[in-house]
Formats: sequence, C-alpha cells, structure tokens
Amino acid sequence: MSNANRQFLLAARPQGMVKPTDFEYRESPVPELGPDQVLIKTNYISLDPSMRGQMENRADYVAPLEIGDVMRAGSVGTIERSNNPAYPVGTLVGGSFGMQDYAISDGKSLPFRTFPDGTDPQAALGVLGGTGMTAYFGLLRLGEPKPGDMVVISGAAGATGSVAGQIAKLKGCTVVGLAGSDDKCQWLTGTLGFDAAINYKTQNVGTELDRLCPDGINIYFDNVGGEILDLALERIANNARVVICGGISRYNATGPIPGPVNYFNLVFRRARMEGFIVLDYASEFGAAAQEMQGWIDAGQLQQSATVIEGFTELPNALVQLFEGVNTGKLMVRTS
Ligand SMILES: NC(=O)c1ccc[n+]([C@@H]2O[C@H](COP(=O)([O-])OP(=O)(O)OC[C@H]3O[C@@H](n4cnc5c(N)ncnc54)[C@H](OP(=O)(O)O)[C@@H]3O)[C@@H](O)[C@H]2O)c1
Repeated sequence: MSNANRQFLLAARPQGMVKPTDFEYRESPVPELGPDQVLIKTNYISLDPSMRGQMENRADYVAPLEIGDVMRAGSVGTIERSNNPAYPVGTLVGGSFGMQDYAISDGKSLPFRTFPDGTDPQAALGVLGGTGMTAYFGLLRLGEPKPGDMVVISGAAGATGSVAGQIAKLKGCTVVGLAGSDDKCQWLTGTLGFDAAINYKTQNVGTELDRLCPDGINIYFDNVGGEILDLALERIANNARVVICGGISRYNATGPIPGPVNYFNLVFRRARMEGFIVLDYASEFGAAAQEMQGWIDAGQLQQSATVIEGFTELPNALVQLFEGVNTGKLMVRTS
C-alpha cells in the first residue's frame, strides 16, 4: 500500500469556465482506521457537470464546499482494509469519496453502495452508478415512456443521455438524440440504436426536429437547457413530459441566464415540465441496478466510458467534460 493519499483540494471559486488552477494538489497521510471502519482505495473517479456548481456552492442539494476542502467527486473503489465484518476486503464500493486516493467510512458517516463480485468497475461508476440511475429514474418516473412515444434527448452521447436513450428504445419509443459531433451522432445511431441524431453544432436543430418529429415530441429529456430547451418546448405534443435533468449550457455562464421563451406552450399542449434530483431515489438504486444489469446481460443496454489515465489529470479532465471530450461516462483511472 502506498503511504500517501493524493488529493485535489478546491483552491478557488471558478469564474466562468472551470480551470485547472481552481484546484490544488496535496499529498496527505493515508487515514488510520477506527472501529467499524473500512479503508477504500479509489480505482476510478467520476467527472460530473454538477461539480462546477458545487465549486461555487450553487448546488443547494448537497452540503457547501469550502475553499481548502477535498474536492467532492463520485468514485468507485475497493475495500483495502476492514474493521467491519459487513464489508470484507476486496468489496467493490461506490460513493462520494472525493478527489483522493483513500477514504474511510463505517458505511454510515460516508454512505456507499456495494456491488456484487464480478461487477465491471467502469459500469459501477457509469451505467449502474449515479448517471445510470439518473437516466433510469428521470426517464421512467418523470418521462413515463409508452410504446410509440417520440423521445428527444439532449446531451445524448454523454453518460446520462446515452443510457436514457437506450432505455427509451427498450420501452418501444422512437428516439432522437442531440450531440456535439458527427462521430457522436454516428455512435448513437450505429451502435446504440437511436433512430436519429442531430449534430447541434453544425445542423439547424429546429429544422431537424420538425423533420424528425412531425407529430411533436412526447418526451423531451433535457441535459443542456438554453436554446435547445426552447426549440424542444416549441415542438412538444399534447400531454408531453419535459424532464429537466440538467442544464450544462448554463453551468459556466457568468451573466444572468434567460428563461425559456416558449414555456407557455406547456399550457397550450397541456404538458408537464419537471425537475428532479437523483439522490431522492437512493433507496431504490439497488433494485434499479439489478434490472439494468439484466438488460446489460441480455445485450439490450451498453456501457461505454471515456477513460483518462492518471490521478493528476483530474482537473484537466473536468475542463474536458465541458468541452465534450467524452462519449458515454467520463472518468479518470487513478489506480
Ligand atoms: N438531476 C440530477 O439528479 C442529475 C444527476 C446527474 C447528472 N445530471 C445532469 O445531467 C446532465 C448530463 O450529465 P452527465 O454526467 O451525463 O454528463 P455528460 O453528458 O456525460 O457530459 C457532458 C456533455 O455535455 C455536452 N455539453 C457540454 N457543454 C454543452 C453545451 N453548452 N451545450 C450542449 N451540450 C454541452 C458535451 O457533449 P457534446 O459533445 O454533445 O456537446 C459533454 O460531453 C448534466 O446537465 C448534469 O448536470 C443531473
């Protein structure tokens, strides 16, 4: 075992786009174990758009993050030492262990999920982890997909969007995804089975939505907000469900952010627009993961990840997330 715990601390509140200099690297001693505690060695650390808001204390559903704190981050790791018979050495666990090599917990102070032996750690962080759960509960509980529904998903080639789209296909929907490159669009239709994809950077999104969704959109699963949300709202069908999962286009904004101009179409179309926080479904994660593992085993759901090598790449990787480097779940392999 190494005798240093590599960490990245929050060094500055970001102004505009997040920067590597917003973090400070430090090495600390590996924490000592107390009674009932386990020592978790992280294997993969997740990069999530919500980290940007937490750096600014804008994410009000989690505790504030202060300058000098270990940067919060989701990860999967392996129990390396254990004083708790409920959690044996070698168990794969996932939780909010932070941008660091080691974390300690008794299972309650820092809650974590355990995964069955043989679970792919990349899947534990991706399709079976927080973003997979977000796709599952956002689409199924808020979107309420029915066979034949026209589903449009923004941020479709990312961790959440790619899983939401695949689940919508499983439910018999027609699925159109929006993504930021031709390669990503090709991956959505060629590999994941989306019915169509729109490159929102090079194509006219409104024109393409008119062409692909002539009878309107039944479910719009939104990961980006901004202009694309407005274009979707303009095209919703009667009784549509607009699932507000995220709004990445606003996370690095500096000035005031305009609201959706076309929100009143919710009235004309008798539609519903609803946000959610995936953590509210935590008690159901185990059952959802089991169902999703069944889909994976049956070849109906694919896990994909963009893996960046090396702990010290963490700050750069967060910048790259906002630049769209990833297809599927973005993570850094730390060990
Ligand atoms: N409600 C919840 O509980 C919850 C939980 C988890 C995540 N979320 C939200 O879900 C969304 C997706 O998160 P994720 O972790 O799965 O990330 P992700 O989609 O894997 O990665 C972010 C992607 O966003 C795209 N992007 C970046 N800037 C953009 C912009 N200005 N306009 C449009 N697209 C942009 C990039 O892809 P392109 O190449 O396509 O631009 C990038 O790959 C985020 O908004 C996040 O906050 C919500």
